[in-house]
Amino acid sequence: MDRLRIHGQQPLRGDVRASGAKNAALPEMAASLLSAQPLELDNVPQLMDVRTLGALLGGMGVSVARDGARVRLQADAVHDCVAPYERVKTMRASILVLGPLLARFGHARVSLPGGCAIGARPVDQHVKGLQLLGARVDIEHGDIVASVPDGRLRGARITTDMITVTGTENLMMAAALAYGETVLENAAQEPEVADLAALLNKMGARIDGAGSSRIRIEGVAELGGAAHRVVPDRIEAGTFLCAALATRGDVVVRDCVPRHLDALLDKLRDAGAEVDCGDDWVRVRADALPGGRPRAVSVRTGEYPGFATDMQAQFMAVDCVAQGAATLTETIFENRFMHVQELVRLGANITIEGNTCVVQGVERLSGATVMATDLRASAGLVIAGLAAEGTTVIERIYHLDRGYEAIEHKLGALGARIERLRA
Ligand code: EPU
Repeated sequence: MDRLRIHGQQPLRGDVRASGAKNAALPEMAASLLSAQPLELDNVPQLMDVRTLGALLGGMGVSVARDGARVRLQADAVHDCVAPYERVKTMRASILVLGPLLARFGHARVSLPGGCAIGARPVDQHVKGLQLLGARVDIEHGDIVASVPDGRLRGARITTDMITVTGTENLMMAAALAYGETVLENAAQEPEVADLAALLNKMGARIDGAGSSRIRIEGVAELGGAAHRVVPDRIEAGTFLCAALATRGDVVVRDCVPRHLDALLDKLRDAGAEVDCGDDWVRVRADALPGGRPRAVSVRTGEYPGFATDMQAQFMAVDCVAQGAATLTETIFENRFMHVQELVRLGANITIEGNTCVVQGVERLSGATVMATDLRASAGLVIAGLAAEGTTVIERIYHLDRGYEAIEHKLGALGARIERLRA
């Protein structure tokens, strides 16, 4: 298994480009199942999760061709509406094929995702919504087996019990081909949901309100092809900005959407960074912090536009080297503090009380061997390693490869001393 070796305490400086968002590219690839016409996606990041979904779709008969950042998908010869356990267990986002398969083909068999490192993560709201749209859903031998007794899904009013990102996406895709109007209440407002809706509308769907908590979908009989550029990855961008602050550097992230980063940028300012934004770039300067260290800043994760749970570990790494104490409260997932014990190995002072971590900043972290446990936890460890004195080795970085494109090259270009040790 590959590892990353980081020699820390190099301030990051320079420009880096954000890639396309993994969490938009995945539902958008799944949307190819809604039409027999080709879908051309651009700005698709080169990531393990994208390859995994490509293989899953390929196994169903979708043709998937990649050329750099472009991916062309065409679902004109689907022969198998099945997402097997072997795929779903490696990537929960596989559940995103359920809505499209059911809407277009009237049946689907998708393995039920189990729990994962960050929490139980049930999909009951996806199922509840599809049932309200007229699907019959059973669990058989660990699979969700769904069909449409009336031949076509019917529009419905759906209020999910909690806000769910992929749940909103699955239901929006299913409702796009349903008969009549669907209203999704309590919808996720994440930019990736809005980006998916923009793509679906280019395919001929009639969706209003995506990006707000109420989405209205007027179902159509058929969808066509489309070309679409995947929205920039706000989590990758935010990761570089946190790394700039933790290393007291000066970094410009280009090709991003600054307003998607608002909650994080406020916290970076509170921590003492100078933050400037243009139309598609953000600069974080932290090379002249008073006292030479960031100020500790507390955060509470929340659904968009709140502070993203996907940025919690990276921001914790900043707080680890800050002046003062801060709390980080996780409200989305029940077990998303797996990075804490690893940060402690680097010398951080953190205690966990329920869903809150209390971080007392230390003057310096000291490099050690640590283990990545999930994607964003790994990103937090990379930032801590970049800030730490000496050498940090991060094991099990396959988690990182699921969601960060060429991370060692991008950080290396900013002056980090980072290398991949191949297994
Ligand atoms: N939930 C349920 N039932 C459901 C659906 C969700 O109880 O049917 C709960 C979850 O267990 C969780 C909360 O609702 O406690 C929110 O989960 P959500 O469904 O919004 O998460 P998700 O759609 O599975 C997406 C991202 C995650 C990101 C979360 C929260 C994708 C492919 N994944 O997951 O991204 O953390 O939203 O913003 O979009 C990552 O990229 O590292 C990642 C984990």
